[in-house]
Amino acid sequence: MRTHYCGHVTAALVDQSVTVCGWVHRRRDHGGVIFIDLRDREGLLQCVFDPDRADVFALAERLRSEYVVKITGRVRRRPEGTSNALLSSGEIEILGTDLVVLNKAETPPFHPDDETVGEDTRLKYRYIDLRRPQMQRNLKLRHSVVQKIRSFMDEQGFLDVETPILTRATPEGARDYLVPSRTHPGQFFALPQSPQLFKQLLMMSGIDRYYQIARCFRDEDLRADRQPEFTQLDVETSFMDMNAIMALIERLVVELWQDVLNVDLGKLPLMSYGEAMARFGSDKPDLRNPLELVDIKDLVADAEFKVFANPANDPKCRVTVLRVPGGGEKLSRGEIDKYTAFVGLYGARGLAWIKVNDKAAGRDGLQSPIVKNLSDAALASILRRSGAQNGDILFFGADKAQVVSDALGALRLKVGNDLKITESGWKALWVVDWPMFEWDDRDGGRWISPHHPFTAPKVDSADDLRNAPGDAVSQGYDIVVNGVELGGGSVRIHRPEIQQAVFELLGISADEQREKFGFLLEALSYGAPPHGGLAIGIDRMVMLMAGGQSIRDVIAFPKTQTAHCPLTRAPGAVEFQQLRELQIRSTVKREGEHSPGEAS
Ligand code: AMO
Ligand code: AMP
Repeated sequence: MRTHYCGHVTAALVDQSVTVCGWVHRRRDHGGVIFIDLRDREGLLQCVFDPDRADVFALAERLRSEYVVKITGRVRRRPEGTSNALLSSGEIEILGTDLVVLNKAETPPFHPDDETVGEDTRLKYRYIDLRRPQMQRNLKLRHSVVQKIRSFMDEQGFLDVETPILTRATPEGARDYLVPSRTHPGQFFALPQSPQLFKQLLMMSGIDRYYQIARCFRDEDLRADRQPEFTQLDVETSFMDMNAIMALIERLVVELWQDVLNVDLGKLPLMSYGEAMARFGSDKPDLRNPLELVDIKDLVADAEFKVFANPANDPKCRVTVLRVPGGGEKLSRGEIDKYTAFVGLYGARGLAWIKVNDKAAGRDGLQSPIVKNLSDAALASILRRSGAQNGDILFFGADKAQVVSDALGALRLKVGNDLKITESGWKALWVVDWPMFEWDDRDGGRWISPHHPFTAPKVDSADDLRNAPGDAVSQGYDIVVNGVELGGGSVRIHRPEIQQAVFELLGISADEQREKFGFLLEALSYGAPPHGGLAIGIDRMVMLMAGGQSIRDVIAFPKTQTAHCPLTRAPGAVEFQQLRELQIRSTVKREGEHSPGEAS
């Protein structure tokens, strides 16, 4: 139909005739001359119609926004002073000699140029939203990232193997999406939260190196960087240790950043989970932000101030200070109150603070609601350890360790952005040395795994694990870029007795082990190679590269925060007949309706 994309018509084609197809982006009438900005995937092209050709001109006059047209014309330079440096076709235009309306369009609910439209409307009319150049760029970027991943994995000898979507529950810690089975009434498939068990089975099958661009499904509370279905680069390999797997993935990530963004991520530093939590209150620290937490439990253990002294004497608690250079001068009482409310969202019961006006003046140089409760010696040692300077503010957290880390970790990010002390650019790292198990206090307490239960411990002894589960360190690793958990993985357990010990410690009974993971335990006993792998969130990675704030912007048809699709209106009700075939009865009543089977 066409000879060129709109965005590919450049000055090199001057005096040639071209035919382009696309959408009417804008139509302007200029004293008897009509200008059409025609838009396609590759860009905009200015098409001019003058009254010399009455029939074509008359047709051009009737064009409206988003009409789909085909235009033939001769390429010419724009008159002096009218070129548009922002367009690849900005120096030229075409003089239209032929025009065909391929399809009319109703007035669209919003113009693809409009950046102010609410997300619900954008998602409802996603096909119009996706016409926006930014969205087209995002999808192209995603395509090229996936292309590069595929060629890298292929060069490294990885086989792309598909794994089932209709399967059994896979334990990644979220709720499952369930699919009822018609042929096995009362039974359900689960959609995979990840291909975890299948990729391990592929290692036991001798595939040696597997990858997949895999769709995963998790019914969890959604956030800007979480969707109920999302895509992973899923990787597993045999006979490679932790360092080799990390080096391979690092090479991929560094090459991607280099190719796509022309950015050198450099060598990724390793940081232990313990250090990340201690210094940044987060297991995915944003290292572009220079602020750090400093623990002061020992300095306030004897203080009169019970808000500090009580947690300082409790091993499960943390007392920490966050120093904000210059914050004493920049932050008003009102802003401090807002930060106090902010940390409250993370469970903090307050936010003690000290403004350091004049260090040399002792306590008189400090402005704070809490200095009266602290001794001179304690104050001096807090200032010394935190590195406080005149003009700084110190924020304090004192509570259960998790609450303090969450609250001050989040405050660190917020203050870093608010005061613009977070650098731009890229900072990536590996977080390693994760605990195998964490104690969860709820419901009487139990061990849970920070990764999934197939993660191998560093010490390869079931007895050591059972004797001191809290001390066991895993062979897990997360890759973090600019404070976003890009991916995570581990070396896996490949010996059945270790896998059983881990299941036991996680409170998975022998029956449940057999019922849920019997096939895995069995497979481990028929010659399982040492293996490990990782998965990278493709949506998150493309979001970061696109400079976006939400993964919804790099997914063609995403769902809302309530896991709803405004375009198709999924999820939706189904016919009673369909439910009957599945032998399912809904307990939800719609207005004016009786439950199936209920006497009417
Ligand atoms: P994990 O659960 O850490 O590991 O997931 C790996 C990566 O997938 C991305 N991700 C998500 N992206 C969008 N929406 C979500 N709801 C979502 N959940 C996770 C993140 C995350 O780092 N089977 C293991 C990997 C392994 O051990 O090999 C797994 O799935 O970027
Ligand atoms: P209070 O003695 O409760 O009035 O608290 C005195 C100061 O300590 C106030 O600035 C509170 O915001 C702060 N504060 C109270 N509880 C905590 C806590 N758990 N961690 C940090 N600061 C707190």
